[in-house]
Amino acid sequence: MNVLVIGSGGREHALAWKIAQSPRVDKVYCAPGNPGIARLHKGECVAIGVNDFDAIEQFIDAHGVSLTVVGPEDPLVRGLVDRLSARGNAAFGPSAAAAQLEGSKAFAKAFMDKYGIPTARYAEFEDAESAIAYVRAQGAPIVIKADGLAAGKGVTVAQSVAEAEEAIREAMVDRVFGAAGAKVVIEECLVGEEASILAFCDGNTVSPLPSSQDHKAVYDGDRGPNTGGMGAYSPAPVVTPELENVIASEVLWPVVRGMAQEGTPYRGILYAGLMITADGPKVIEFNVRFGDPETQVLLPRMVSDIVPVFEACCAGALGAVNIEYISGPCVTVVMASGGYPKDYAKGKAITGIDAAETDNQVAVYHAGTQLEGETLVTNGGRVLNVTAHGTDLPEAIQRAYAAVGKIQFEGAHFRSDIGQKALRRMA
Ligand code: AMP
Ligand code: GLY
Repeated sequence: MNVLVIGSGGREHALAWKIAQSPRVDKVYCAPGNPGIARLHKGECVAIGVNDFDAIEQFIDAHGVSLTVVGPEDPLVRGLVDRLSARGNAAFGPSAAAAQLEGSKAFAKAFMDKYGIPTARYAEFEDAESAIAYVRAQGAPIVIKADGLAAGKGVTVAQSVAEAEEAIREAMVDRVFGAAGAKVVIEECLVGEEASILAFCDGNTVSPLPSSQDHKAVYDGDRGPNTGGMGAYSPAPVVTPELENVIASEVLWPVVRGMAQEGTPYRGILYAGLMITADGPKVIEFNVRFGDPETQVLLPRMVSDIVPVFEACCAGALGAVNIEYISGPCVTVVMASGGYPKDYAKGKAITGIDAAETDNQVAVYHAGTQLEGETLVTNGGRVLNVTAHGTDLPEAIQRAYAAVGKIQFEGAHFRSDIGQKALRRMA
């Protein structure tokens, strides 16, 4: 069978790599993909944008694609899966209505309220004056969130009332996130350690993946501005087996039951971004897709063929599927362009990936690369995800950083403390 992956980052490289391992798969197409995906033995990239639904449909018909896996949130929120399902094409991911769990923070908060899912207290506002009055009454720290999709930049954890007011004005008056800031959600600031739990869902049933933890801040010690994610590891020791059960029963299952009850069953990956507080786990956000870079440490730990899992999610048959994972941990370190997450240059030549991959426990996923002739060059903020297995976490960390040390491009920077929080917790 032929599979089509939608997207172009490190997450999609990891997805395409995992799908290509299925003995049932002949070809993994990726729209638009990246040079790392093009190099997979079954991989082929096609120059189609993630929101070009007409071209995607034509491609599916012309190339006998029997399963489409959607990476990013944007085409999901815009209804790509609805379009494909309506014409009988199997597509992995939620409908536009179910994707509102990520597409609108106000929707997600109201849904959590209704179904008793633990999350930060909140209020929502459609005009800046009432939002500012609320912030003045509540005091800081306080969290301001643009309602709609803002490419991961719509959240401000304000340490002062002045900072909160500034964030409200930027979103609602200056409209720096466009229409996404017409409404804001203002939340109580949660205290604790963050972790992510992703789960396969088929509309009725939940199958959680192992825990993972992202590193959002750009610099060591969680300092500096937030990024898309500078590295990850799995499992996350902060999520004990007992907490895993609590998260499944208080968050994941209630979401799937609630969405079914609302008439918008949830199929695809449900990503719960959690704060593990003294009061137990609370939801910070839902994403309706695989995490990036969490996917790059989760899929290498998955032993089972992923294609039957995707098919079972589409068909409402996940209950019959048993999914196995290896117990050994996995770590990924993001190598980013100089200047990221602010402005950065592109087109810097990359060397050393083959040398890094001589360790058979290392895989380098491409996140923002491009070929200029024969030369691989940088083409994004997050450039490479250098990923390693180990029998234990110290070994995985050591292997990942040894591989990072072999790769060069001008201006490259990365965090040197990926996984240290887990080591401290285990000590
Ligand atoms: P989000 O884009 O919703 O993932 O938020 C970005 C980051 O802001 C999260 O990873 C948290 O670090 C932080 N954050 C969001 N909401 C809260 C909250 N209610 N309390 C504390 N931190 C938060
Ligand atoms: N790593 C955070 C995200 O995928 O949203």
